[in-house]
Amino acid sequence: MNITVTYKIAKRMLESTGEALSGQQLADEFGISRTAIWKHMKELEEKGYEIESVKKKGYRIVSIPDTLEPITIQIGLKTKRIGQRIEYVESCTSTQIIAHQLAQENAPDGTVVLTETQTAGRGRMARKWDSAAHKGVWMSIILRPNVPPQKAPQFTLVTAVAIVRAIEEVTALQPKIKWPNDILLNGKKCTGILTELQSDADGIQALIVGIGLNVNQDKEDFDLEVQGIATSLKMISGQTVNRQELVRAVLFYTELYTQMYIDEGFGMLKILWESYSTTIGQPVRARMTNHTLEGIAEGISDDGVLQLRTLDGKLHGIYSADIEM
Ligand code: BTN
Repeated sequence: MNITVTYKIAKRMLESTGEALSGQQLADEFGISRTAIWKHMKELEEKGYEIESVKKKGYRIVSIPDTLEPITIQIGLKTKRIGQRIEYVESCTSTQIIAHQLAQENAPDGTVVLTETQTAGRGRMARKWDSAAHKGVWMSIILRPNVPPQKAPQFTLVTAVAIVRAIEEVTALQPKIKWPNDILLNGKKCTGILTELQSDADGIQALIVGIGLNVNQDKEDFDLEVQGIATSLKMISGQTVNRQELVRAVLFYTELYTQMYIDEGFGMLKILWESYSTTIGQPVRARMTNHTLEGIAEGISDDGVLQLRTLDGKLHGIYSADIEM
C-alpha cells in the first residue's frame, strides 16, 4: 500500500468539505481501481480516521486522528512558506537534531519537523525537555532569513510573541512572556523556545527554532522534578486543546511576525513583546554562568537585550541568563 497515495486521497476527501465522494470518482481521479480505493479507506481507518461509507454516494471522512501528521496540519494551513514541507516522525531523540540535519541537506526555508514524543528533548543551557507522547507540540522550524547573525536572538522573542498570539486565538487563555523565551500561565511554564544557529563566513545559513508547547498534559504526565514549575494549556483551561489547530496557528503567526521583523525591524514587535511581558518593571535576579545580578528589569533594547538596573543605579545589558522573580 502506497501511503503517499492514501494521504493524497484523504486530502482530496477532506477538501470536499463533508461531501461524500464515490469510490468510482476517486478511482478515476487517482487512476486506480475501486478495490484499491477501498483498501486505502481501510488503511486510513487503521490510522484512526473515521470513515463513513454512504450507500450509493461513497466515502466521507467524519473525524481525523489526534496526530500531528502533515496531512492533519496542512489542510487549512494559511501560510505561504512555513509548513509547506513537514517532516513527521512518531518518535525521535530531538526534533532539533533532525532539523539540523535537514538544514545541512538544504531543506528549504520554512521546513517544519514534528514528532509525538522525544527521547532526548533538549532545552536551553543543556537542560532536558520533558516531551510526553501525544500530549504536546514538539517541533522545530528551519528559517533562512537574510539577516546578519547578531539579529538571530530577536527571532526567539518574535517567536514568543507568535506563540502567545496563537494560544490566545485557539484558547481563552492569556499567556505571559518571561524574558527571553519562557511562556507562562499562572506563573508556570507552558512553553519553551530554543533557537540554534547554523552560520558561516557568509552569515546565517539556518536558524533552527525549537518549540516545546505543553498542551494536554495532566500534572502526573510531567517528570517529578518539573511538576512544581511546569503547566499545560489543559491544566489551566480545564479543556483538551486541539493540537492540530494550535500548530496551524503557531505556524501562521510565526510566518507573519518573522516576516514583519525582516521587513520592518523590531519596533512594533518590541511593543507587542513588552505588552505580554511579566518581566518588565519587576525586580528580578539574573543568574548568569559566573555571577548573579539583582535589580529592576527596565525593558529590552532594540536588539532584544534585557536592560537591568541594579541598586547602584548602573544599567546592565543581559544577553543570556536565568531570570528569577
Ligand atoms: C527551553 O525553555 O529551555 C527551551 C525548550 C525547547 C524544547 C523544544 S521541544 C522541540 C525542540 N526539540 C528539542 O529537543 N527542543 C526543542
